[in-house]
Amino acid sequence: MVKIAPSILSADFANLGRDITKTVEAGADWIHIDVMDGSFVPNISFGLPVVQAIRPLTDKFFDVHLMIVNPTNFIDAFVDAGADLINFHYEAEVHIDRAVEMIKSRGVKAGITLNPATPVSVLKYILPKLDMVLIMSVNPGFGGQSFIPYTLDKVRELREMAAEVNPSLLIEIDGGMSCETIKSAVEAGVDVVVAGSAVYRNGKITENITALRDSLK
Ligand code: DX5
Ligand code: ZN
Repeated sequence: MVKIAPSILSADFANLGRDITKTVEAGADWIHIDVMDGSFVPNISFGLPVVQAIRPLTDKFFDVHLMIVNPTNFIDAFVDAGADLINFHYEAEVHIDRAVEMIKSRGVKAGITLNPATPVSVLKYILPKLDMVLIMSVNPGFGGQSFIPYTLDKVRELREMAAEVNPSLLIEIDGGMSCETIKSAVEAGVDVVVAGSAVYRNGKITENITALRDSLK
């Protein structure tokens, strides 16, 4: 069963708690939390205090996507704030193995994120240790961008790579997911679909999540 992970980057920040409660009631599987530092990506979103503030609202799985330089400096703090999974960018970290071990030693799940142009082959040796790989299907930094089609070739290639060494690996896709693009992503082998603007646009969260699920039928 495919998981839908709404990205609260596109929620109404003046009513974030209300939107998260609506998202949970609408049957979202995970909450996707985009942390941006204005350095790794050309935008700033929100950080630790926001994750701490929303943690008591729900026991849903918090999927934290760190778009920050030197992510290892913040692993402990985001676990303490309530992350259930930490995704960090391959492009932002020199010591990939150490970072994965740090995340796992805290008892949460570990994911590596790849920018669109980064090949999946860079994950060959670390793949057995990972719970998830996040394939970016837009260049990270903003919601509401157009889906980049070649990223589905990466999903297919990764599924093949993982088949022998880590068959339970989750593959997540993030960026430009909509009623038009979601089915092709799932057919390529995606397990978790992140959707920001497709969920929060026009404020009709329940209807939008239902429409995404219906697009998979
Ligand atoms: C982009 C973020 C995404 C973003 C997706 O840098 O990682 O999670 O919120 O937004 P949409 O679904 O609007 O492309
Ligand atoms: Zn994201």
